[in-house]
Amino acid sequence: MVTGIAIGNATALKSELDWFFKLLDTRIKLHFGHECTYSDIFEITPPELDPSGSMYGHFINHYDLTFAERAVFVLSLVPHIKPHLLDVFLSTDAASSRRFTEFGGRNGTAYQGFLPTGETALFLLAGDDVEKRLSFQYLFDADHFFAQHNILRIEGAGENEPEMSGLLTLSRDIIDLVTTGKMRRPAFSADFPARRLETGLDWDDLVLDPYTLSQVLEIKAWIEHGDELLNDLGLGRKLKPGYRALFYGPPGTGKTLTASLIGKVTGRDVYRIDLSMVVSKYIGETEKNLEKVFQRAEHKDWILFFDEADALFGKRTNINDAHDRFANQEISYLLQRVEDYAGVVILASNMRSNLDEAFTRRFQSIIHFPMPRQNDRLRLWNNAFSEKTPLEAGVDLRKIAAEYELSGGAIMNVVRYATLMTLKKKSRVISLDDILEGIRKELQKEGRTS
Ligand SMILES: Nc1ncnc2c1ncn2[C@@H]1O[C@H](COP(=O)(O)OP(=O)(O)OP(=O)(O)O)[C@@H](O)[C@H]1O
Ligand SMILES: [Mg+2]
Repeated sequence: MVTGIAIGNATALKSELDWFFKLLDTRIKLHFGHECTYSDIFEITPPELDPSGSMYGHFINHYDLTFAERAVFVLSLVPHIKPHLLDVFLSTDAASSRRFTEFGGRNGTAYQGFLPTGETALFLLAGDDVEKRLSFQYLFDADHFFAQHNILRIEGAGENEPEMSGLLTLSRDIIDLVTTGKMRRPAFSADFPARRLETGLDWDDLVLDPYTLSQVLEIKAWIEHGDELLNDLGLGRKLKPGYRALFYGPPGTGKTLTASLIGKVTGRDVYRIDLSMVVSKYIGETEKNLEKVFQRAEHKDWILFFDEADALFGKRTNINDAHDRFANQEISYLLQRVEDYAGVVILASNMRSNLDEAFTRRFQSIIHFPMPRQNDRLRLWNNAFSEKTPLEAGVDLRKIAAEYELSGGAIMNVVRYATLMTLKKKSRVISLDDILEGIRKELQKEGRTS
């Protein structure tokens, strides 16, 4: 389906590329002293783009890109949408029969076209005017919004090679956004070890004791008002951005569910990273891959949920072998990165083991998810079964809730079991026996018997 914004985007990109091609043509002509209508590329006015007509126009206006920023941005985008526009850079110098050094650029591995580097950008903007070239280097500084907002950066210059010989690299998200008008959600891979958490449940389904709930609501308040607090009230100078919470408690008490629901009610995506997987399987790669997750997440307001976070606590001084040493390194990197992350990070663990002060100090809240008490268990049971499967007369949920100390997760397992058994019998009525058998299985799993 072609949407309005996609059509708008194609038109906007076309006029943008026409403009860019004029810049390029002019720069080449000026450089080689050919006859030319303009005496500088900056005389060529960029097209006016309606911010509401296309995602591309929206982007340009949102960041209020200057001429130079816009030119570099389009240069970086061209290989992704119209690579042959850059073929002129592939021409060779008749005298040396090599490519022109001043154009910069690189060859891809499979890709046959020209890949622009920082040098290409500086050449486009300033030709071989050294002073002018230097004046544009700030575009690639770490504190320019290109880098800060993970839009564009220079990457992959070889060791001891000029920084500007690195490739102009647009983030995947930005390419998607300005070409298709949509942000694609990343898929799980070794390269991106995070998965989006979703839940069909609603806030009202969440059963938490009042103290746990009040702490959870603090996170929600932060998401809703943190920006105002840091920016409008100016506390950003004094406080670290972001919010870090630790959820700890026995399995099945609603830690993952709560993280998903916080995202759902505040309209934020929640990404789950399984730390036990990441830290043991990708040793050495961990840092690199996690950095990608952090970078993508930043400025997109994602909530990062680190599960099985026990890997991060304790044992940090106990180095037995190289594996431990690496793991320790990853852990300090991760703690630091969690602390620097400007959004919401939630860590979840089953045990509050060996939490040292250095660790707890970095967290705004440390929230205990206890086993539900009798009343809460009753609420969970009452809410648990399908409306289409009534309970047989004689099932007293109040009694069951009082008698069996089960977590919300365990209760849902019982419901699954009892409902399956009912369907197997081609019935719709849940029997007490099936519920009790399900409970017995749960208790057995946990090493308890009934
Ligand atoms: N407090 C709760 N309120 C409502 N439902 C709950 C609650 N706790 C658990 N459940 C139910 O049990 C399911 C599993 O819970 P969840 O995955 O959130 O537990 P967890 O604390 O993350 O467990 P683990 O430590 O094993 O990761 C939930 O999807 C939900 O259906
Ligand atoms: Mg969980």
